Amino acid sequence: MIRPATPADIDDLIRFRVIMFEAMGTAQPDLDAPEWLAAARAWFERVLERDDALILVADVDGHLVSCGVAEVKHIGPSPGCPNGRAGVINNIVTVVQARGQGWGRRITHGLVDWFDTETDARRVDLYATPDGALIYRDLGFTEHTFPAMQRPSPRLER
Ligand SMILES: CC(C)(COP(=O)(O)OP(=O)(O)OC[C@H]1O[C@@H](n2cnc3c(N)ncnc32)[C@H](O)[C@@H]1OP(=O)(O)O)[C@@H](O)C(=O)NCCC(=O)NCCS
Repeated sequence: MIRPATPADIDDLIRFRVIMFEAMGTAQPDLDAPEWLAAARAWFERVLERDDALILVADVDGHLVSCGVAEVKHIGPSPGCPNGRAGVINNIVTVVQARGQGWGRRITHGLVDWFDTETDARRVDLYATPDGALIYRDLGFTEHTFPAMQRPSPRLER
């Protein structure tokens, strides 16, 4: 069944987040680095407390096999998003053994439905891996006109 996550699920949510970055090609030493793992735990704890965020998990007889995270964020208002409230989906992951059984689609559909019916988000953003893009396209997601760009911003020790 698909259900909202609880604090008892956080170990699994972190495990799924590691699986996601592993699938995206992150090297093992970086996956194991304690700094981001501790921060991820704190982040999941905060997200679970928010009314404008939702984490769904797929629970098969008490074992979690899939999850997804939805948050509504404040952004600069624009003609396309006049209230400055944008949804973000991330952490869509299914364990390898349970892939191809529809969990990813059901989780993502549940998050999109929540944005549409329960929040004031005027659009939903995500970054898609090739595996995830199959699901997102079917739900109406399209490539953004302008490419996402980023640069590392290292914190210098002073
Ligand atoms: C993307 C991901 C979450 C999909 O999860 P899933 O539970 O397998 O998704 P579904 O079962 O709903 O399948 C969705 C589509 O993926 C394809 N697919 C997924 N797993 C597959 C598998 N093992 N073999 C073949 N096709 C598969 C199918 O084409 C399927 O489409 P269909 O419903 O038309 O058959 C999963 O592949 C995953 O965790 N990947 C690594 C992390 C990742 O890339 N996350 C997305 C971040 S944006």
